[in-house]
Amino acid sequence: MRKIIITLDGYSGTGKSSTARIVSEKLGYTYIDSGAMYRAVTYHFLNENINLKDTQNIERILRNIKIKFRKGRTFLNGQDVEDVIRSMAVNQYVSQVAAISAVRVKLVQFQRKLGEEKGVVMDGRDIGTVVFPNADLKLFMTADMDIRVERRKNQLLKKGIKESFDDIRCNFIKRDKIDTTREDSPLMKAEDAVEIDTTDLSLNDQVNNIVKLAENLIYEN
Ligand code: CDP
Repeated sequence: MRKIIITLDGYSGTGKSSTARIVSEKLGYTYIDSGAMYRAVTYHFLNENINLKDTQNIERILRNIKIKFRKGRTFLNGQDVEDVIRSMAVNQYVSQVAAISAVRVKLVQFQRKLGEEKGVVMDGRDIGTVVFPNADLKLFMTADMDIRVERRKNQLLKKGIKESFDDIRCNFIKRDKIDTTREDSPLMKAEDAVEIDTTDLSLNDQVNNIVKLAENLIYEN
């Protein structure tokens, strides 16, 4: 039995994170939410009123940022930021922050370190293309826009957060555009990734499909 690296890239609201989390639990693997890292950095920049064009200052600030994951929650310099990083304020700026190369260099380095031991499922935008180009199993997830928005709306409602369909839709469109067109590590399907359109798939089906693919690799000689 060997340990593998599984990457899940794709768009918001396709079920990426929920799928990655459950797949990791079923396999006894570690789940790593790379989007939470970009969100945590964005939250910090917003709090500190950082000018996103001041690269030197950004590099200095990045040196003092420590991100940790504990029991499914994200910590920034010791503070639990899991809930605040999902806010609309962060949604508005995260793609701009994620397009800054200095930010990507720092976070990609951290992501690679977390994957050193293998036995990880990591989701994001560039995990199969840039972070782990040699990953054993790569998935790329898509879904119809309206379904994506509806899923996110319900996911937020479960946490007691009310956001309108239109606001979420506008934000998804804006982020998709920035994420797919940025110069550094744009969101795209890795050539060797399996594409999954989750529009008509249940979370259960998504998870089971991926676990089967993973087990074929884990138990192969
Ligand atoms: O949960 P949702 O799919 O809405 O977003 P996320 O995975 O938390 O990612 C938030 C943002 O972080 C994305 O829109 C990207 O701008 C950025 N991101 C990235 O650039 N690269 C990654 N590997 C992960 C996220």
